[in-house]
Amino acid sequence: MFCCAFLVLFLALGNELHLSHATEVSVNNTENKLCLYANLMVNFSVTYEVGVNKSETALFVLPENVTTEGSTCNDTTSTLQLGFGDGHSWAVKFTKDTKTYQVDAIVFTYNLNDSSVFPNSTSNETKSVMVKPTITNVGVDTYYSCKSKVLLKVESVTQTLYDVALQAFVTNGSKSDTDTVCAADLPTTTVAPNTTVTTTAAPTSTPTLPTPTTGNYSIAPDFNSTACLMATFGLRIGYKQGDKVETINLVPNATNVGGACGVNSSDLILTSNTITIMFTFSNDSKMFHLHALNITVKPATGAPVVAANTNMSVWVAAVGSSYMCNKEQTLNVTDTLTLYTFALRVQPFGVKKGEFATAEDCRDDTTESWVVPIAIGVALTVLVLIVLIAYFIGRKRNQGSGYEHF
Ligand SMILES: *[C@@H]1O[C@H](CO)[C@@H](O)[C@H](O)[C@H]1NC(C)=O
Ligand SMILES: *[C@@H]1O[C@H](CO)[C@@H](O)[C@H](O)[C@H]1NC(C)=O
Ligand SMILES: *[C@@H]1O[C@H](CO)[C@@H](O)[C@H](O)[C@H]1NC(C)=O
Ligand SMILES: *[C@@H]1O[C@H](CO)[C@@H](O)[C@H](O)[C@H]1NC(C)=O
Ligand SMILES: *[C@@H]1O[C@H](CO)[C@@H](O)[C@H](O)[C@H]1NC(C)=O
Ligand SMILES: *[C@@H]1O[C@H](CO)[C@@H](O)[C@H](O)[C@H]1NC(C)=O
Ligand SMILES: *[C@@H]1O[C@H](CO)[C@@H](O)[C@H](O)[C@H]1NC(C)=O
Ligand SMILES: *[C@@H]1O[C@H](CO)[C@@H](O)[C@H](O)[C@H]1NC(C)=O
Ligand SMILES: *[C@@H]1O[C@H](CO)[C@@H](O)[C@H](O)[C@H]1NC(C)=O
Repeated sequence: MFCCAFLVLFLALGNELHLSHATEVSVNNTENKLCLYANLMVNFSVTYEVGVNKSETALFVLPENVTTEGSTCNDTTSTLQLGFGDGHSWAVKFTKDTKTYQVDAIVFTYNLNDSSVFPNSTSNETKSVMVKPTITNVGVDTYYSCKSKVLLKVESVTQTLYDVALQAFVTNGSKSDTDTVCAADLPTTTVAPNTTVTTTAAPTSTPTLPTPTTGNYSIAPDFNSTACLMATFGLRIGYKQGDKVETINLVPNATNVGGACGVNSSDLILTSNTITIMFTFSNDSKMFHLHALNITVKPATGAPVVAANTNMSVWVAAVGSSYMCNKEQTLNVTDTLTLYTFALRVQPFGVKKGEFATAEDCRDDTTESWVVPIAIGVALTVLVLIVLIAYFIGRKRNQGSGYEHF
């Protein structure tokens, strides 16, 4: 009896602790009917400056008590805007088509002037970071459910989402009972790799991967702005594991997008279950280039492979234009890791109206144009020969006719 009471108490307490900081909110539309629902946990980790070359990391959670001011519900777009503490906010933008809805972006805004969260901060600015999580294909009239942890990293901010239940475009005025479960929560259906054959001496030849799917990635400073950084490419990574070279493709529809635009430097961060890649672009006033790459690959077996190069100077084009390279391009990041890009186009600075500016082609693309100078050269040589031959024939004739005159 005592034991059971104890157990009940323990469970109740455990439950209490477990739910200690879940944030549950309901947003009603203009007709006062439920249109947005959220019950989730978010942990934040923010690294900020406290002195010259000195930084500290603040850890905090999305509190239970938040405001929903600024949240909006429309037919095809909705925004959940959660305000908390001294000027911080966490906002999620949803869009809908006929059968499904998705999260377009999450914008986290934090106020470095709040000394209770950011003690000794040298800045008193309010900063925002945007991420595009892979919360897509959620059936209309279902809620998105994800118990698994999802890490969203941008610059110096990491957001950890877990125990998430989210429903936008609620129709009947009440939250749905049906859910769309995130991939991470589904039982793993990964095909078992051919590990059994590794005992044989002959190395198993890895099947050639198909060309990676081209992904469209963009970053905007907030919901109300158009993109400030745009990129399109298919991506493959080749890395050494022991003596073997493995290859892996980035899957765009399973990739979280993060990043930030700056005046002198912009970042694009792509995160999937197996790949984390950060591109850092520099603006050297007139030209931009890819300056740094930091890549982590988590293979199915073995330790993660980390490769960083902060001294690159590729993908060079004028600020205000975009860089394009349709052909497969190879970038040796380190001795052990190589990046292959396909159908690449990037513009890390000065994007206007959410469109790419004129492109500057990579040299690889212009190999055909070598044909033109060669053709012109050959044509000129032939022309010179013809002129010379004509000259000599003419001279001979003249000489001939000269003899006749005299
Ligand atoms: C989130 O933060 C809380 C409080 O610091 C901690 O108890 C919890 O374990 C964290 N959860 C995750 C998933 O990191
Ligand atoms: C701060 O770091 C930069 C580069 O990492 C270095 O050049 C500079 O001397 C450092 N400043 C101080 C005060 O340590
Ligand atoms: C923020 O800091 C700047 C100088 O660092 C100061 O001039 C300004 O008054 C501060 N603003 C607020 C709101 O504290
Ligand atoms: C976006 O625009 C809406 C309405 O125009 C405004 O209420 C909101 O504060 C704006 N958000 C940001 C982050 O500028
Ligand atoms: C991702 O794309 C592949 C095809 O490219 C498709 O089979 C798969 O269903 C998509 N996954 C999601 C979650 O949309
Ligand atoms: C960008 O670089 C220029 C020149 O190097 C410098 O004057 C300016 O302060 C930098 N801007 C920012 C925001 O770092
Ligand atoms: C690029 O850098 C220059 C000099 O630092 C700056 O004037 C210009 O505004 C920057 N361009 C963009 C698009 O940020
Ligand atoms: C690369 O990223 C990892 C993980 O975020 C970080 O620990 C490391 O310092 C980064 N390396 C460089 C050179 O920036
Ligand atoms: C960076 O690259 C330049 C030119 O390729 C080279 O001169 C310089 O030594 C490199 N610096 C480092 C730290 O690798």
